[in-house]
Amino acid sequence: MVAEAQRDRDRLVVLVSGTGTNLQALLDAQARPGFPAEVVAVGSDRSDAGGLIRAERAELPTFVVDPAEFGAGSGKVWDRAGWDRLLAARIAAHQPDWIVSAGFMRLLGSTVLSDFPNLVINTHPALLPAFPGAHAVHDALEYGVKVTGCTVHVIDAGVDTGPIIAQEAVTVAGDDTVESLHERIKQVERELLVAVVERLATSGLNLNGRKVD
Ligand code: GAR
Repeated sequence: MVAEAQRDRDRLVVLVSGTGTNLQALLDAQARPGFPAEVVAVGSDRSDAGGLIRAERAELPTFVVDPAEFGAGSGKVWDRAGWDRLLAARIAAHQPDWIVSAGFMRLLGSTVLSDFPNLVINTHPALLPAFPGAHAVHDALEYGVKVTGCTVHVIDAGVDTGPIIAQEAVTVAGDDTVESLHERIKQVERELLVAVVERLATSGLNLNGRKVD
């Protein structure tokens, strides 16, 4: 019975570059009876990503598509399109229903996005469209905002510009550092990501132009 029910769950490929606490939240959630999605593989751009260790502990297949193997960091123009094509193929091998970028610190290219249209989501540690990019928590703190938060959105070709699925606010404290603020954001972010995945796996993505219903 359980095996039958689990076959019906939506399949997630999760992409990570860092410690993978958002991945862990999904792994913990899928252990709940009735949770409608399960992580089937974890991919990274870095072989030293802590998220890969979490995946291996959960006995999940992992893959690494290292941009350095396509010339990134060599000082020359790197083959970003080739990297993206291989990443798309590695993802496709796991037949995902959804791809979750959870602390994946690379822009996805046109092959991944066209092979999986409106099926790739990202979690970002700021209230988009404020503070896109790789240093969102630092940028929000430097700007002096009193409220920031996190956003889960569909990935499009821009930098954190895709349709917003859900957001949660977090109040900035006077004595916050980047680390303390990011930690509080991540506590909220993990719950938000799990809720969004649950919703997508249950009802799909209802996209109306830029608006997600
Ligand atoms: C998360 O806060 C995520 O939003 C952020 O990296 C962290 C990963 O944490 N992503 C970005 O900044 C992407 N622009 P985790 O590795 O513990 O899940």
